[in-house]
Amino acid sequence: MSRPVTARVPAKVNVQLAVGGLRPDGFHDLANVFLAVGLHDEVTAAPADALRITVEGADAAQVPLDRTNLAARAALALAERHGIEPGVHLHIAKDIPVAGGMAGGSADAAGALLACDALWGTRATRAELLEICADLGSDIPFSLVGGVALGRGRGELLTPLETGGTFHWVFAVADGGLSTPAVYRECDRLREESGAGANAADVPAPEPSQALLDALRTGDATALAAAVSNDLQPAALSLRPALADTLRAGADAGALASLVSGSGPTCAFLAKDVEAAQGVATALAASGTCRTVRVTSGPVPGAGLVDA
Ligand code: C5P
Repeated sequence: MSRPVTARVPAKVNVQLAVGGLRPDGFHDLANVFLAVGLHDEVTAAPADALRITVEGADAAQVPLDRTNLAARAALALAERHGIEPGVHLHIAKDIPVAGGMAGGSADAAGALLACDALWGTRATRAELLEICADLGSDIPFSLVGGVALGRGRGELLTPLETGGTFHWVFAVADGGLSTPAVYRECDRLREESGAGANAADVPAPEPSQALLDALRTGDATALAAAVSNDLQPAALSLRPALADTLRAGADAGALASLVSGSGPTCAFLAKDVEAAQGVATALAASGTCRTVRVTSGPVPGAGLVDA
């Protein structure tokens, strides 16, 4: 009998999320600059007769335990490719907010893939793992790769980026999640409403910001703060207007930058250093505008196996 295997996978924040027009396949072309941060989920794969999922953590009740769970889908995809039975018990220890815009579900998929590959001895190549990730979801390849990367296409075509330092972040976790497809739909609706149009022909092709790439390369938090942007933010705010209060509370507390993380509703705040981050966190916690506050830093490495 094989021993259980555990993978540890980071959350992400998008320091730039430039969203192009709606494509015929229902996705949007992106210039998506991901940065992995030090909040992690752990996925343990243990031998079992059939696929089973259990979850622990503050948000565990919101995580589906059936085959709609991305971790289950990742295990099934790997088993199918290698012609084996997907007998595995996946246990997810969740620390990344659920449906929070921080790629928690993507992290669990990447973790399940790595852990099952080790448990089953399927020895998938890195390219194969990345292909399975991309098939399952646009953000999942980044959960595997970590660090900082530019995602093109729908976000799955990654180019790793150089960074010159560590950035200090505060995350304000909201009550309840936001559905990613609903936020993209709202982005399209707002574009239609403005008269500009929402289709690929109406919206300029998304491009990475040179100022942002320079700030990442030099590790300059002030320059990064001036360059961060998220095209999904107006849509997240439209669906959840109270997030404006959270963003304002962080800005008032001295954050260098305040933005919605991905499709939200988690809000991300960039701080000058770890002391400034603690100050922003204390003020946010006292503001009553969010459920929980987390302080962390990044970039951190992507998914990896934890030594037993
Ligand atoms: O790829 P993923 O499963 O994470 O995408 C979830 C949904 O988010 C898609 O079905 C689509 O509605 C939206 N999406 C998008 N453009 C992207 C990525 C996601 O419209 N580049």
